[in-house]
Amino acid sequence: MKRIISAVVALLLVISVIPMQTRAAQGGKLAAITFDDGPSAEYTPKLLDALKARGVKATFFMLGQNAQSNLDIVARAYNEGHEIASHSWDHPDLTGLSDSGVRNQLDSTVRVLSQGCSGVTDFLLRPPYGSTNSRVESLINVPMIYWSVDPEDWKYRDPDTVRSHIVDNTYDGAIILVHDIHGTSVDGALMAIDDLLDMGYEFVTVSELHRRREIPLENGEWHYSCKPNGTDVGPIPAPEITCAAHGAKMLVTITGQSNAPIYYTTDGSTPKQNSAVYNGPFEASYDSTITAYCAYDTNGVRSETTTMLPGEGVVGEVPYIRLNNGNVEMGKTTEEGVIFYTVDGSPVSLSSAVYSGPFPMPKGAYVRAASGGGFMKLSPENVVYCSERGTMFADMEPGTWYFDSIDRLAEAGMMSGMGNSIYAPKTDLTRGMLVTMLYAYTDVKLSAGWKKTSPFPDVEQDKWYAEPVEWAYRNSIVTGYKDKTFRPGNKLTRQELSVIIDSFLTYRGNTLPRGASCSGKFGDYGMIHHWALSSVEALAQAGLLAGDGKNVKPISNATRAEVAAIICQMMDYEAAHPVKP
Ligand code: NI
Repeated sequence: MKRIISAVVALLLVISVIPMQTRAAQGGKLAAITFDDGPSAEYTPKLLDALKARGVKATFFMLGQNAQSNLDIVARAYNEGHEIASHSWDHPDLTGLSDSGVRNQLDSTVRVLSQGCSGVTDFLLRPPYGSTNSRVESLINVPMIYWSVDPEDWKYRDPDTVRSHIVDNTYDGAIILVHDIHGTSVDGALMAIDDLLDMGYEFVTVSELHRRREIPLENGEWHYSCKPNGTDVGPIPAPEITCAAHGAKMLVTITGQSNAPIYYTTDGSTPKQNSAVYNGPFEASYDSTITAYCAYDTNGVRSETTTMLPGEGVVGEVPYIRLNNGNVEMGKTTEEGVIFYTVDGSPVSLSSAVYSGPFPMPKGAYVRAASGGGFMKLSPENVVYCSERGTMFADMEPGTWYFDSIDRLAEAGMMSGMGNSIYAPKTDLTRGMLVTMLYAYTDVKLSAGWKKTSPFPDVEQDKWYAEPVEWAYRNSIVTGYKDKTFRPGNKLTRQELSVIIDSFLTYRGNTLPRGASCSGKFGDYGMIHHWALSSVEALAQAGLLAGDGKNVKPISNATRAEVAAIICQMMDYEAAHPVKP
């Protein structure tokens, strides 16, 4: 499969995991420790824990019959980078068996080990007791591994003795024999490993030991040790993983040692013999965990594992969400990452849909979006609510007392947001805003080329509220202040609002009922200024102005939410009291 990496990809932010090399300096002392006769359900898992904690790789010469009943342990040891090898099916002296008996011992063991090692078929062999003859050897077509350090742990059964026998006899390039079917052997071996690590030894598998010193493992030949020969090609470097945002998927690039195949997975599992082998950049979903190692042989001749978790990099930019002709549009200012979104209210994740272009607004639903991917960390979410009427709100929840009023006015084009779907319902409305809303409501517009006749020097003709203010002045809906100013940016008190609404209804030919005082209705009645009293009372009587039930708060500023509610009441009143022509 060939892929062309476009120039666009190169622009996108790329996040890499560069593995740390923690191995001992190459050219140091090497040793291969081998564990025979297992695996043991009792001791081998504990041994694997201890080896993992020490970063030590070992070789396990397993008996087929024990492997068969402990396949999970075989798989674990293989996955953790140890070398799995054969020690026959049930430990006979092969020289005492017929040709077919020998073949059965070897073949049946390979079959079982292969199951635990995801299809590996070439296992080193250690014939039981190290015993062969020329007839047996002629039947063996894999390398045979003897040992150079034998602590006779099966005989002493004492951790300290096992430890000292190993430490005293190990030399650079040694192959150490221990058995993981005795607790005393495991304990002694681990103590010896700690001593030898302190002495500067690096533990490698048998195959890796030969690769490092470039000593070939010959089929059908015995191998005892790898004494220093001036050669150490060093450990295989762990691969570097790079992920870039790439539309609906991310593009994964893995680099490693040139001639060692790279095995990888995208589900977080350790690569195995039957895992994908890297052959060029590939696409993966953004929630993938990429795990890779370089391996000449997945069975113990491989690098450390490199893992890249999703969302490990820098934080993405919060995307914008906007409405354009009934379609939802999203975007961000940088090219880095992609935008993920949901329309069902669920939180955005790296497995959410990737935005690829405008889509019809989902009515009555939340749209949530965040950017990131290519292992960028997801940004915080931008959340908007799309109303049934087809309006988009970023700062209002359906169900609030003012939601329906603002939604209704927004749909009618009478109330616009403050940008980015922000409606700021709790902020105060200005005089310019109110007049603009009323002008949007009326059908009668100034003729094109309207000329300013209003006396307000603080209303410049190129301002968004200039035409509405002109219209309101001409129709006596507003009169301005005594100093001839209109003060369009001033906040509007509730009594000012009442006067303007009253004037607007009068202009529309819809006279409110009058005469009933609301002196007993509102506790703060005395605060209403004389010039507003008639209007406040008329609106209250018509049910357009309710206050909070106790007070009408005449000198409080009117919020955008309050104004929206009153205008909706006014529209309902007009609908219920049509003006007779
Ligand atoms: Ni044995």
